[in-house]
Order: sequence, then structure tokens, then C-alpha cells
Amino acid sequence: MTKYVINGGKPLHGEIEISGAKNAAVAIIPAALMVDGVCRIENLPEISDVKTLLHILKEMGAKLRVVDKRTLDIDCSRIGTSHATFDMMRRIRASYYIIGALLGRFGRADVAMPGGCNFGGVRPIDQHIKGFTAMGANVKVRNGIVSAVTGDGLRGATIYLDVVSVGATINLMLGAALAQGITIIENAAKEPHIVDLANFLNSMGADIRGAGTSVIKIRGVKRMSGGFYSIIPDQIEAGTYMAAVAGAGGRVLIKDVIPKHLEGISGKLREMGVTIVDLEDSIIVQRDAPLLRTHIKTMPYPGFPTDMQPQISTVLCLAEGTSTVTEGVWDNRFKYVDELAKMGSFIRVDGRTAIIEGVPYLTGAPIKASDLRAGAALVIAGLAAHGRTVIEGVNYIERGYEKMTQKLSSLGADIKIIFERDEPRFKKKIV
Ligand code: EPZ
Repeated sequence: MTKYVINGGKPLHGEIEISGAKNAAVAIIPAALMVDGVCRIENLPEISDVKTLLHILKEMGAKLRVVDKRTLDIDCSRIGTSHATFDMMRRIRASYYIIGALLGRFGRADVAMPGGCNFGGVRPIDQHIKGFTAMGANVKVRNGIVSAVTGDGLRGATIYLDVVSVGATINLMLGAALAQGITIIENAAKEPHIVDLANFLNSMGADIRGAGTSVIKIRGVKRMSGGFYSIIPDQIEAGTYMAAVAGAGGRVLIKDVIPKHLEGISGKLREMGVTIVDLEDSIIVQRDAPLLRTHIKTMPYPGFPTDMQPQISTVLCLAEGTSTVTEGVWDNRFKYVDELAKMGSFIRVDGRTAIIEGVPYLTGAPIKASDLRAGAALVIAGLAAHGRTVIEGVNYIERGYEKMTQKLSSLGADIKIIFERDEPRFKKKIV
């Protein structure tokens, strides 16, 4: 089993670069399935979720060509199947975007129900199904397989989402890009990766307006041809390193970010006594004074992101007084709290709220990541703690963070990867 070993208590100093956004990449790669030509995608993060998706596309007949470390040409012009490999699909959540892409392109799709991070609650796709049904698809879910069929392709429709869903907004945008007529998505999610996907599709020839607002209008086009696109920086990766500096102390220049996307996170860290200086495409994070308590509720963008909830809760374990963190997006995302308790934290979870009594310090312990962001939170705890922390389950972390141990080491952290033979890591070469 692969583990991270951290000798904590060292403040972080220096500069790091942020990679391309995971949640944009995992939408843009399936979107390439709809393009009749070569898509050159730049700033792809080197993470296992991206590798899994590229593997799925390759198995479907896509031609992939590496241009450089972060740039890939994807050519799906010869794909002739509406069926995606079930085994790989079950590995990641974002594989459900293949449903929208295949429905848009072929008018039918047969894909496995998505897997992905399990933070303890249910992750329904009823809003995706509701939207595709309104667009004329007959959708059935049987034995873990989603089968969607249309007569002669999807037709535009007006769809009101009952919950603000990132996944449903993206999936319906994909299907609508090549549908007949106009689709309007109301109560749409506004996350930066939704805007990024719309920009990608538009640069390939789609006609999408309003992404980033709650009403998105998509005029279906007959064909999308190839083009170039560069993925935005990862807001959550940047937020995670901001939280790491807040937890461990120090001063770090975080480069290649869009400060506007980080406003929700920066605002809360400032309330906690952390200095944040916004520059044009980088930020400085500095913490050299005691942390102050605060109260946070996660919400869809532009609110405080749920994908930063475990990391910020971990930092609040070290703030004087009582803080509260309320999860406003998912039913249950506090599984990591039991692991933090092993390090001396005091967190009580009452429904969707964590009540955090600050402690002067955490102590290193053997702990286990249960999902991607929980894993990132445990790394922050290890960096801030006195003594040695050993983290298992790091394959979750590597799904979404590119070279996390190297980036942290470059900031002076004492963090090492211990490889053990029996870990089922994704070593296969994709292209
Ligand atoms: C995306 O998940 C992200 N994943 C998640 O990030 C993130 O936590 C989430 O959006 C919210 O920001 C990817 O982009 C791959 P949702 P998604 O549909 O699309 C309910 C990470 O750590 N809902 O916006 O699956 C749902 O139960 C990951 O990077 C329905 O009820 O999330 C939840 O309460 C983890 N019916 C809320 O909406 C539906 O059909 C938001 O879910 C769909 C969702």
C-alpha cells in the first residue's frame, strides 16, 4: 500500500504553480467525443482521473497524441460506438459526462453508472435523467448501466434544475450542443469549470451563452470541428495550498491562479487572520499569527466551495475558540473527522454542521484518507501537526492533485511517498 509520511511542524516557504483544473478537464475530455476533428487541449493536469478518462476515450477509438507534458491532441472523428467500457467508467464520477457527449453525437448512449469519491452520502443523477428525458431521450437504469435512446437525436427543451447541480448542468450542456433547436437550462450551476466547458465547446463551434449565470442558452449546431483550448487553473488545488499555509504557517507565492475564482476561500482565510495578497495571476498567502475562529457554510459557486470543506475544517481545528462549518451541498461529507480525532482534534458533527473546538496543536498519527478532499485535509493536518503522520489511501489524493508531495517538498515540507508493492496504482501508459 502506498503511503505519505509527513514529519510536521515546518512552516511552508517559497512558490508553487497550480495545475489545470481537474473538474474542468474531466468535462472537456468527454466533450472532445463530440468534436469531428482534432482538439488540442493544453494545461491538462497529470492526475489519475484524467488518465482514466483518456483510457476510456482510447478504448472507444479516439486517437491521442502527446504534444508536450501538458498538451494533448484528441481526435474522435472516427469514433463509431455509443458504448463505453463499463469497468473503467465505474472508477470515476465524471464518466457520466460520456452520457451527454454520446447522446449529443449519436442520439444514444450505453454507459455504466458513475463511480467516484464516496464521502458517505448518495450521489443521485435524477436531474441529468430529467433533462435528457425532456430532450426526447428514453433513459433506463438497469443493473448499474444507464441506457439512453432517442429517435433521431436530442431535441432542444427548457429544463429547470430542481437542485443546482454541476454535473447535470455540464451533462445537459454537452447533449444540447449538438441537439436540434434551442435548450435553456434554468437554475444552472455557475462554477468556473462550467464556464470553461462552455468556452471549450464554443471554441470548437458550439453556440452557448450565459454560462456562469443561472440561465444557460444553447443553440444546437450540426457539427463541431477541431481547435485549440487551454484549461483554467484549478481553484481547489490552489485553495488546498492556501489552507496548507494557513495550517502550517509560512509565506508562499501561489502562481498560475485566477484570484477571482478564489474569492470565497480568500475571504474566509482573511477572517481567520491569514494575509492574502491578490496579484494579477498569482496570490501571496502568509500566516505568522494565531488563527482566529470563524463560521462557514458551503454553497454552490460563488459561495464557499464544498470541495474545500475538509481542508478548511482541518485548519479551524487550530483556531482559538469554537468554529462551525456547515455543509450546504452534500448530505454527508464529514467522514474524515474520525481520522482528525486521532490527531487530537475536537470536532462534533451534528447533522450537516461540524462544531470545532480549537486546540493549540495536533499530533502526528497513522490515518487513512477516505476520499480526495478528505485526503488533502489529512495532508494539511500532517503538515501542521507535531511529529510523524502516516497517511494511507493516497490513491484518492492522486486522483485529483498533481505531484502533491513534490510541490509541498519544494516549499520545505518533510513529506515522502512510501511505495509498497501491492498497491493497485494506475501505472499503465495511456498514450
Ligand atoms: C461536482 O460533483 C464535482 N465533481 C464535485 O467535486 C463537487 O463536490 C460538486 O460538483 C459540487 O460542487 C466533478 O466536477 C467531477 P452536483 P457533482 O451534481 O456534479 C444533488 C471533488 O472533490 N444532486 O453539483 O456530482 C447532489 O446530491 C468532487 O472534486 C441531485 O440531487 O455534484 C448534491 O447534493 C467531489 N440530483 C448536489 O445536488 C442530481 O441529479 C450537488 O451535486 C445531481 C445532483
